[in-house]
Amino acid sequence: MNTPTRHLITSAIPYVNGVKHLGNLIGSMLPADVFARFCRQQGHETLFICGTDDHGTPAELGAIKEQRDPREYVNHWHQFQKDIYQRFGLSFNHFGSSSRPQNTALTQHLARQLHQQGLLEIRSETMLYSHADKRFLPDRYVEGQCPKCGFAKARGDQCDGCGSVLNPTDLINPYSSISGSHDVELKQTSHIYLKQSQLVPQLRAWIDEQTHWPKLSRSIAYKWLDEGLQDRGITRDLKWGVPVPQDLADALGDPTLAQKVFYVWFDAPIAYIAATQEWATAAHGEAQPTTDIPLSPQAARWWLKNQGATDVHYTQFMGKDNVYFHTLSFPCTLIGSGEPWNPVSTLKSYNWLTYYGGKFSTSQGVGIFTDKALELLPADYWRYYLIARAPEGDDSEFRWTDLQSVVNKDLADVLGNFINRTLTFNAKHHGTSLPPLGEVTAMETQLHQNLQTTLQKLSHHLQEAEMRKSAEALRELWSLGNEYLAAAEPWKELKTNPERAQTILHTAIQLIPFYAATMAPLIPHTAEKIIALFPQLQTPAFQAYPWPQNSLPNSAITQVATPSEVLFPKISDEQVAEWEAQFGNSKV
Ligand code: MF3
Ligand code: ZN
Repeated sequence: MNTPTRHLITSAIPYVNGVKHLGNLIGSMLPADVFARFCRQQGHETLFICGTDDHGTPAELGAIKEQRDPREYVNHWHQFQKDIYQRFGLSFNHFGSSSRPQNTALTQHLARQLHQQGLLEIRSETMLYSHADKRFLPDRYVEGQCPKCGFAKARGDQCDGCGSVLNPTDLINPYSSISGSHDVELKQTSHIYLKQSQLVPQLRAWIDEQTHWPKLSRSIAYKWLDEGLQDRGITRDLKWGVPVPQDLADALGDPTLAQKVFYVWFDAPIAYIAATQEWATAAHGEAQPTTDIPLSPQAARWWLKNQGATDVHYTQFMGKDNVYFHTLSFPCTLIGSGEPWNPVSTLKSYNWLTYYGGKFSTSQGVGIFTDKALELLPADYWRYYLIARAPEGDDSEFRWTDLQSVVNKDLADVLGNFINRTLTFNAKHHGTSLPPLGEVTAMETQLHQNLQTTLQKLSHHLQEAEMRKSAEALRELWSLGNEYLAAAEPWKELKTNPERAQTILHTAIQLIPFYAATMAPLIPHTAEKIIALFPQLQTPAFQAYPWPQNSLPNSAITQVATPSEVLFPKISDEQVAEWEAQFGNSKV
């Protein structure tokens, strides 16, 4: 990332079913947003794409449960999630959806390409059929015991106990997760397989080059390659999904395949591209072409190397359970197509945020959901806390008391206190004017030197999308301001040396917009509130928060308003007690 590049950033698209919990937020969308905001502040052309993962079992099961038509169900939850993410300040350029026509066109196109490259074949297989439900039971429609670790409630696609990717027929003592019925038997059905095993040499060569990926991402990828990459079934016996096109079914020699749909993990990552096409249509009025690769020029310049994407740095964010699909199965689709798709450049994967050491669970209602969270505290409290505790090296544990201590210490005591102290003091003596900057002393020089060192650290960590370290560096910037005030003691100087007091105050006030610009990737709402205090910064140029090169005073700033409210009200012990009682404070 040395030369200025264009940044394409995607966050794993959350399953559309229901409300997501805080673990989903910090496990991909929030770090991706911090990174996207930083890239934009640095002046890079940035495209940040996310959306909902609308197909597959979670959506179909969700619709069955709510007795709704899948289309209506999906639209409802898509909008519901989109609103929440907007309130969290997630700055997607586009929040798309995998069940729109753009994705149907791209998914079908890529499948046809794979067939042309000789990478598809039909396999007849035996699948579990449920008599009670009168249907085949793919993926999550089956539960049972994990053959690898013995976990009792493993799903047909994956075991939550040990993380193994499974086939439904691997499960011991399987039963239907729709009806709970054990009345299941193996029956014949045919499916399209992608011959991933033929792509192993190309995949290995490509992963060998990705020395800059985090350890976790690479080791997961190698583990799969070493164990021998299996061919994967890319169709399912479901109604809801991207249909297998008739021409492909015919070409493969089994017309009945057109009654099936593509596997959700086949079409979901393609939705990154499809959502870019949605964006190109919305932002540039470009229609999706119907010939050749169904991508219009503005979308193609982010994705196709022969259409300008060679200078695109593509960063993906995801939870660790998604790594297989992004390092191996999606690249198989792109590489296997024989077309010049731009593959991922940097892949960021996250461990789990736990709720007191236990699993956040949507199905069991354990933990805190994103909609609830916003009823309790402002978005920036959550953003800051989650970023400071991002599960980067390891899992990390949510606790109410920890949230309280991070918010009260870092945001209220360090940052909030600095700003309130400085501005109240100034208001008392100078109203809304900035006092002049007189002669600076070694103290100010030292302050700016220290700030510079820390600013460089912060920039570096943000560039690497290292969340915890970014939060630490940011807090360090704030502490330097506080330490300066405490050492310079303007309230004392006021009596004996008023000019000195003015210089100190000027210096301190000037740090506030510097803080706003540097906090903006992490806590954008607070940054905006702070910038609003400075009338001279209400220009469109500043609204884009250029990333500062240093902390030196900006001579354009001569006025500042006093904040009308405490910036960060503290979280009280009573609140913590109430939330612990409401949500639980132990492992479930
Ligand atoms: N919906 C999946 C999950 O929440 C992520 C899909 S990411 C994509 O685990 F690449 F497939 F889009
Ligand atoms: Zn297991």
